[in-house]
Amino acid sequence: MALVTVAKKKEISEGTMLGVEAAGKKLLIAHVGGEFHAIDAVCSHMKGDLAKGELKNGIVKCPRHGAQYDVTTGKLVKDVGFAAKGINLGRGATGQSHFDVVVDGNDLRVDI
Ligand code: FES
Repeated sequence: MALVTVAKKKEISEGTMLGVEAAGKKLLIAHVGGEFHAIDAVCSHMKGDLAKGELKNGIVKCPRHGAQYDVTTGKLVKDVGFAAKGINLGRGATGQSHFDVVVDGNDLRVDI
């Protein structure tokens, strides 16, 4: 694990999110409740890009089939529907890896 600078604080205002790449991973950095959070940006269902999804009240919704994740933990809060499971051999979404974000001056650093 190492701290990697991924963005500037001013790039992500409260209630917004940003997709970044660091250490070979696609990450979603979100600013919620005055804190910054990082989760894997590649959806656990069928690899949708969560950075292109919608963030509302700390929950990001995947733009492909609508799975919803808590950005403060990476936990799945709403799975995909029956039809979307069907196109993935019956498998739904699971959850996203979560990474700690350290605010270092104006920089946001993620422990990857
Ligand atoms: S790829 Fe994200 S919900 Fe299907």
